[in-house]
Amino acid sequence: MEKILTTLLIFSLFTGFLAFLLTLAKKTIGNYGIMKVTINEETEIEMEGGDTLLSGLTEEKIFIPSACGGKGSCGYCKVTVESGGGEILPTEFGYVTPEERELGVRLSCQLKVKEPIAISIPEELFNVKEFHPTVTAITDLTPNIKHLIFTFPQGEEISFKAGQYVQLRAPKYPGNHEEVFRAYSIASSPTEHNKLELIIGLVPDGICSTYVHKHLSVGDEVAMTGPYGDFYYQESTREILMVAAGTGMAPILSILHQLKAMNSERRAIFYFGARHEEDLFFLERMKEFESDLISFEFIPSLSKPHRETDWKGQLGRVTTCLQRDLMDPCEREAYLCGSPRMIDSIVEVLIEKGIPEEFIYYDKFS
Ligand SMILES: Cc1cc2nc3c(=O)[nH]c(=O)nc-3n(C[C@H](O)[C@H](O)[C@H](O)COP(=O)(O)OP(=O)(O)OC[C@H]3O[C@@H](n4cnc5c(N)ncnc54)[C@H](O)[C@@H]3O)c2cc1C
Ligand code: FES
Repeated sequence: MEKILTTLLIFSLFTGFLAFLLTLAKKTIGNYGIMKVTINEETEIEMEGGDTLLSGLTEEKIFIPSACGGKGSCGYCKVTVESGGGEILPTEFGYVTPEERELGVRLSCQLKVKEPIAISIPEELFNVKEFHPTVTAITDLTPNIKHLIFTFPQGEEISFKAGQYVQLRAPKYPGNHEEVFRAYSIASSPTEHNKLELIIGLVPDGICSTYVHKHLSVGDEVAMTGPYGDFYYQESTREILMVAAGTGMAPILSILHQLKAMNSERRAIFYFGARHEEDLFFLERMKEFESDLISFEFIPSLSKPHRETDWKGQLGRVTTCLQRDLMDPCEREAYLCGSPRMIDSIVEVLIEKGIPEEFIYYDKFS
């Protein structure tokens, strides 16, 4: 008995000592103290050493685009490091080109600040703000896509360019233990500053889209930051070609609102791809745009209609329609929105059809 008690005592002392060592290690190793971050040579902030640069900047209300919420899978959170920051990490390689590496470009969500650091970011990011609008309408567009209207409280106004996006916060909810931000393109008119529309598709087991589809109700207040993005309407005389599928219609709608607000006479065609009849939406709105805009045409196309004979519109994938329709050598610029795979295949067709790469603008919903 005495032997057992002695063994237990020694074991407890040993594990206690180990726990003490671990606590000590946590406090010393990895404790970098407060670190200084210099931005654009003039602004200085302080952040907790060892945290990611992205989270340090967010704490100071400097909002860097971070469409994947800091998972290192969108490549949107780039900053240029002028000094400090250590070596680029393997997790950044896929998103930072060799030329960008030469310039010091890093993913701020991957870079942990362990020494004073100097960075440069585009000036317009200082204009990105945090908003707290209320949901004023939620409508089902298809079985998996919802249209949401948000109204800003008095004194809060958003200014954005047609095509840009906001990042919506999904709070913790039953089944989700982390707070995340996700990118959603603004679907409403840039002339409206106290109201904003989003079109959000449900991704199976997706954190933010499940929050929107299953937990968000009219009357709820949300948090969002924005506006972000360099995908937006460009003023020119070229014919406008717009191509989207599913929720990719969102930024195109905003561009159409912009054209309408300007009474634009530019020739514009919008190819919208869907699988079945029930995946199409806003057909009435498109008809209204066709009558409001002098040179606008909406071309929906179904790749798998239930009853081919009843469907009067185009058949096949949008890439097939583009291959067939873009025969003339007219000067065009293109706005594309949808999944990365869809965008890549459309870009290939458009280049083949003679649209210069610098006139093909897109947002990949990754
Ligand atoms: C610039 C930009 C604009 C965007 N605009 C819109 C928009 O207007 N409307 C909209 O609905 N979405 C938009 N997205 C996509 C959106 O940001 C989210 O990625 C999407 O809602 C999934 O987020 P989640 O939190 O629900 O899923 P997550 O929790 O991030 O993902 C859950 C799982 O699903 C996978 N997954 C993520 N997205 C998809 C997908 N689309 N299809 C299949 N699997 C997926 C992930 O790899 C992961 O395994 C945009 C993305 C970008 C980058
Ligand atoms: S936030 Fe997406 S890669 Fe950094």
